[in-house]
Amino acid sequence: MNLSEAQRVRALADALRSRLGPPPEIAAILGSGWAAAGRMEPAEALPLSELPGWPVPRVPGHAPVLQVGRLAGRRVAVCGGRVHAYEGRSAAEIVRGVRALAAWGARSLLLLNAAGSLRPELAPGSCMPFTDHINLGLPNPLSAGQSMDGHAHFLDLVDLYDPEWRARLLAARPELRAGVYAGVPGPSYETPAEVGLLRALGVDAVGMSTIPEALAARDAGARVLAVSLLTNYAAGISGSRPSHGEVLRAAVEHGAGAAEVLRAAAGTAP
Ligand code: HPA
Repeated sequence: MNLSEAQRVRALADALRSRLGPPPEIAAILGSGWAAAGRMEPAEALPLSELPGWPVPRVPGHAPVLQVGRLAGRRVAVCGGRVHAYEGRSAAEIVRGVRALAAWGARSLLLLNAAGSLRPELAPGSCMPFTDHINLGLPNPLSAGQSMDGHAHFLDLVDLYDPEWRARLLAARPELRAGVYAGVPGPSYETPAEVGLLRALGVDAVGMSTIPEALAARDAGARVLAVSLLTNYAAGISGSRPSHGEVLRAAVEHGAGAAEVLRAAAGTAP
């Protein structure tokens, strides 16, 4: 049967409601290496493969499980991984989980990822809340054929990353530095010349995800906060030659700090 995207999302939201009960206040999507940070006890856990139509991540570092439990006193759903454009996924597939979490009733979306740092003072292990983004080629889920109703949505993106939520997080964790994230399609890492261009553009961190989900969450009327765990310096900075192995090793090494930031982000949601 040929389902519309809206029908797929509605079916997923119904499945979430019947398997996991009332919606969480906050839904978090973890990125590379955040799996350990997102572990909650006690929590219900549901394999994503049991949710019909939920695109399941296959990249190492992404756990295909949805947990629901309490974090910092809030009811939170944590999805252990995401799918990416570089896996050959469409924009609608990349954001289907976010749309289903919003349709279930989650009003605040927390998006976490791994990214490369362009600022010497943001050393690997730092967490960077987004002030804004620059989309350099990630697919847009609001284009015709990818949106819920199939039509193009002309969406305002001023204050996409919720200023109030970010301010509350920065007040709770004053050592964090917020910055601008550039999204690239990957999966190859940047050339040193591309990193030089990004620096000239005022970019602070570069990664291969998150922007499509932020757009879909805003389109669904949810608040959005995004935070990068900086796992490496971007190519050419301090002689860096990034690799997925290095990204995952750094994420494990800095997982305890990331877990603290995740808890603070959940606890400061407006
Ligand atoms: N570039 C792009 N994506 C990334 C990086 C990087 O250096 N590190 C982690 N994800």
